[in-house]
Amino acid sequence: MIIEPRMRGFICLTSHPDGCAENVKNQIEYVKSKGAINGPKKVLVIGASTGFGLASRITAAYGSNAATIGVYFEKPPQQGKTASPGWYNTAAFEHEAHQSDLYAKSINGDAFSDEVKKTTLDLIKADLGQVDLVIYSLASPVRKNPKTEVLHRSTLKPIGGSFTNKTVDFHTGIVSDISIDSANEEEIENTVAVMGGEDWEMWIDALKAENLLAEGALTVAYSYIGPSLTEAVYRKGTIGRAKDHLEATAFTISDKLKDINGKAYVSVNKALVTQASSAIPVIPLYISLLYKVMKEEGIHEGTIEQIQRLYADRLYTGNEIAVDEKGRIRIDDWEMREDVQAKVAKLWEESTTETLPNLGDLAGYKSDFLSLFGFEVDHVDYKAEANEMVAIEGLV
Ligand code: NAD
Ligand code: NA
Repeated sequence: MIIEPRMRGFICLTSHPDGCAENVKNQIEYVKSKGAINGPKKVLVIGASTGFGLASRITAAYGSNAATIGVYFEKPPQQGKTASPGWYNTAAFEHEAHQSDLYAKSINGDAFSDEVKKTTLDLIKADLGQVDLVIYSLASPVRKNPKTEVLHRSTLKPIGGSFTNKTVDFHTGIVSDISIDSANEEEIENTVAVMGGEDWEMWIDALKAENLLAEGALTVAYSYIGPSLTEAVYRKGTIGRAKDHLEATAFTISDKLKDINGKAYVSVNKALVTQASSAIPVIPLYISLLYKVMKEEGIHEGTIEQIQRLYADRLYTGNEIAVDEKGRIRIDDWEMREDVQAKVAKLWEESTTETLPNLGDLAGYKSDFLSLFGFEVDHVDYKAEANEMVAIEGLV
């Protein structure tokens, strides 16, 4: 069928299989062009189908010839109805990997559940024996705790007072003020339950209990900090509390991995357009200004450039892994550069509906957003019939 973008609010209801496949191939080519990384050999990626997790899987496979198992939660296609983009991304990745003689299998389901953990553990046992890297890259608005059966919902709110600032509706380009009420204790706790480190620790406990982590295994989860402009709604808000918890969990996990010389890290990544980040108020305006400045400076990166650099320049250099004063890996170093942030802050002041198209990279934002769903990707013929019923070769 002919597939076009159909927008509803912050999401796109359709996705294009050929555009998603092209994005994956471009990411593979990028990693290959940067050369071999003396990296992991057997990798589990939790949250492997889009964003930073997909880039982590591609970098492991094509930077280090790693066997990869991906866990994700995506909607399969139905006749006449497209799958969610992570489905098509995974289908394309696994097809390419198999062509390249790389092991690649995946599990589609709720990573927070005991069932999906068990299926994954069984697959590792049967096929890989052990893994030497576990990437934890989930972004979800809800989590059912498998022990208590409580369904937690996250919120994106400030803490300790309401917050008003500028935001942009990136579909219309309209810049307006947004006020967000302060979160209560329950909302904070729920957000920490969804996006904090509890589930990460459950995964590592389960893997360790069955001796599925290799000697010296690493596990890495992703965090964000960002500038003072966004801190009320991000780092000092409910999601920031969850990230504090995630970062603290790295130390708890590292303690538990001492006997196998393993270690847990949090990597602080750059702000990027993903399905997760486009739903956060204020962030899209910040990202459109940040893109403009970083592109002008020639230091703009997407998820694949970020993760390739994370593996090559941080995790697998052969030297000790460099961390900040809180033990975190910083790959947001270029975003957080003083000159970059000073320029963004100035542009922020000047941004209005009228000025933003010139001051910010709204066009880049929009096209990155559509590209997440496989639209507006170069070399894809959108007028041609596309096959929506794409299967994932390695789906367990
Ligand atoms: P994303 O939405 O692109 O990816 C989320 C992944 O999680 C997908 O593979 C999805 O299928 C999977 N997932 C969601 N719920 C699941 C569930 N219940 N079971 C199994 N899989 C599930 O998001 P992203 O932006 O790549 O975020 C990944 C991590 O990176 C998050 O921790 C996020 O906070 C962090 N991060 C994001 C940014 C940014 O700007 N986007 C910056 C720094 C850090
Ligand atoms: Na991800």
